Amino acid sequence: MQVHETAFVVSTYRSHHEDVSKDTYAKLWNNPSTDALIPDILKNVSEHEAILHSLRNRFFHESLTSFFEANNGGTLINFGAGFSMYQFQMMNNVSTIEIDKKDIIDYKKERIDLWITQGKLPQRDIKYASVDFNIQTEEEIINIIKPLIKKEPTFIVLEGVLFFLNQNTTDKLFRIFKELQETGDQVGSVSYLPEIESTEVYQRLLHYFDSHNDTNDSFMHQTTTHSFYEKIDGYHLKEYTDEFELSKLYAPDCKIDNKSQILNENMYILERI
Ligand SMILES: C[S@@+](CC[C@H](N)C(=O)[O-])C[C@H]1O[C@@H](n2cnc3c(N)ncnc32)[C@H](O)[C@@H]1O
Repeated sequence: MQVHETAFVVSTYRSHHEDVSKDTYAKLWNNPSTDALIPDILKNVSEHEAILHSLRNRFFHESLTSFFEANNGGTLINFGAGFSMYQFQMMNNVSTIEIDKKDIIDYKKERIDLWITQGKLPQRDIKYASVDFNIQTEEEIINIIKPLIKKEPTFIVLEGVLFFLNQNTTDKLFRIFKELQETGDQVGSVSYLPEIESTEVYQRLLHYFDSHNDTNDSFMHQTTTHSFYEKIDGYHLKEYTDEFELSKLYAPDCKIDNKSQILNENMYILERI
């Protein structure tokens, strides 16, 4: 599986549970080749993957809505945006900067421009930036993103990305965030705790990636400690939760009894100090 395919898979998951994810536009990205991948993942990795990714989206949907409502707009900066559609779920006083690898950005921009013209999506102020977090330097990335920020405050989203990166790139990204943001701005991040590595469900996920390996597209499988978030320079940890807790709130009927049986991701909200 190539990294860009993971973005299609996550978007399709959101479309399976619109009532939970609140992403009514995700289905625009659905396509037969992604649909063909999903039954195998749900059967061989975990049947709960679609609802968990929808819960993750719901958490950021709620966090972004309350942040931008309280601040009367601002800029959403989405690092590794994939096919996220938050920009259309917010009021039009929110500008968005979509950042991802070039193939995703080129395809996303082309489709979104078309769907806006066709009236399938509302008009929004969206900027796009093609960046590879592993290859480009801190300075290069700051020089690309900073001029695109026209409206403060900012909320940076880093969702479903850290798993694919190493520690050096992760540290680089948080230094970039510090440089881009002002006091009171926020970052929302997602990662797995290292404890998950000993669970059967996580081993099944790694096995799935290994057995569907694409030689041209290698990636990491990083987990991140809770204490990492408590020590990030320039930020304080404001809030955290996990998908297991969110399921009780937004999907009480989904029958997840034990967090060690699911690919339970953790969500963190950091505030720039
Ligand atoms: C699983 S998808 C998540 C997409 C989106 N944030 C979401 O939650 O729906 C991971 C995204 O991270 C992007 N990504 C991974 N490694 C990257 C890198 N080195 N530079 C830029 N983007 C990267 C991928 O292209 C992909 O769009």
